[in-house]
Amino acid sequence: MKVTVVGSGYVGLVTGACLADVGNQVLCLDLDARKIEILNQGGIPIHEPGLLEIVQRNRLAGRLSFTTDVAASVAHGDIQFIAVGTPPDEDGSADLRYVVAAARNIGKHMTGFKVIVDKSTVPVGTADKVHAAIADELTQRGTALDFAVTSNPEFLKEGAAVEDFMRPDRIVVGIPTGEVGERARAMMQQLYAPFQRNHDRTLFMDVRSAELTKYAANAMLATRISFMNELANLAETLGADIELVRRGIGSDPRIGYHFLYPGTGYGGSCFPKDVKALIRTAQEHGHAATLLNAVEEVNDTQKSVLVRKIEKHYGNDLSGKHFAMWGLAFKPNTDDMREAPSRVVLQALVERGARVTAYDPVAMEETNRVLELDFAGKPAQRAAIALAQSAQQALEGADALVIMTEWSHFRSPDFAAIKAALKAPVIFDGRNLFDPAYVRGEGFAYFAIGR
Ligand SMILES: NC(=O)c1ccc[n+]([C@@H]2O[C@H](COP(=O)([O-])OP(=O)(O)OC[C@H]3O[C@@H](n4cnc5c(N)ncnc54)[C@H](O)[C@@H]3O)[C@@H](O)[C@H]2O)c1
Repeated sequence: MKVTVVGSGYVGLVTGACLADVGNQVLCLDLDARKIEILNQGGIPIHEPGLLEIVQRNRLAGRLSFTTDVAASVAHGDIQFIAVGTPPDEDGSADLRYVVAAARNIGKHMTGFKVIVDKSTVPVGTADKVHAAIADELTQRGTALDFAVTSNPEFLKEGAAVEDFMRPDRIVVGIPTGEVGERARAMMQQLYAPFQRNHDRTLFMDVRSAELTKYAANAMLATRISFMNELANLAETLGADIELVRRGIGSDPRIGYHFLYPGTGYGGSCFPKDVKALIRTAQEHGHAATLLNAVEEVNDTQKSVLVRKIEKHYGNDLSGKHFAMWGLAFKPNTDDMREAPSRVVLQALVERGARVTAYDPVAMEETNRVLELDFAGKPAQRAAIALAQSAQQALEGADALVIMTEWSHFRSPDFAAIKAALKAPVIFDGRNLFDPAYVRGEGFAYFAIGR
């Protein structure tokens, strides 16, 4: 099938590459010329395991190409995915300007039937706005053409995106009513058939339910994280170990083990903005999203949990203190720094006078970029953060180690080497990577979450 993907970021690029890998002809559009140049030179602009190989393979086979040419991208695909960003607006609602711009471009250039697929995470009712934008462009051109706007939210996880796309738990497709809807249903079924060969995983539904399903999934996951963070803080006060409590409840099949890890709060490009956007949608329709507001509040507080522990240990004035930080990305196996808790902790530490030497296996370049934004106009604070070439180098001469991301090679480190490099054997672990008894037995002061 001929497919266009508008937006070549984490979602668009994975979607385009995986659809090409099963034999489709895919053209990916992005307005960011730098990204397209990297892709056309055989690279990828993001870190995502397995993605480079699949992009290279399909590019060389002539099934996957990249462009900044809007007209060419509209001409190419019978199916047009919209996978552009939907960042939070000032009031927390999803900013739909990129989605609507992509829709208008389609309306400006289309010359025959198209299925438009909203893959970006968008509030309920967005498909109607996309439909209206395209219809408006067609009217301005004095043309009438059939098209269907469907909703196909994406559930991939950064760090495992290719695997998630290739072997989905489910594929949700919202289809409009009527004849064009049925035409779209048949095309979407054909497009996704190769990804569900052993049994059908597509859930066809109405468009609004599909749009809401994505927010419901992310809000549920965020709720589990905030629930565990709240209980972790309580466990500390009560002298209980949240890790034992986690196992105690996770063994109940009604609860399960997934997404019950306490830590430094959820970050990333999805949970924070999607929870906010759902709260906003609820408000706009006269519902007080009491639970979701609490989920967000707990998370905001949790992002500073390590700062509070550090202050308790050293006092509020951290001038002269030097911290090593392991992990910067919001989670392992990605370079994504959007809403990463590490940014909150870095800011808090340098504001209190400390210096930080940080290390992340893949997010260093992205960190440099976001620190310029976070510390704009504060060059002295920015200068208090150095980036190390290795985890061991970050430790040299620091007063303590702060762990922000659970990269797998941080899980079983050489504690003797850590102790030798640090000025004092102190670890603040935001990811509960170690057995407290063992680490304390090695002579460390060890501060974890809820233990
Ligand atoms: N990142 C994730 O893990 C994930 C998972 C599921 C859903 N989503 C959702 O998918 C959407 C995209 O997220 P992402 O992380 O891939 O974003 P991203 O910022 O990595 O990529 C978006 C891309 O769209 C491009 N773009 C913007 N306007 C454009 C236009 N009019 N035409 C062509 N390109 C345009 C941007 O230049 C950018 O490269 C968001 O709605 C997000 O909520 C993201």
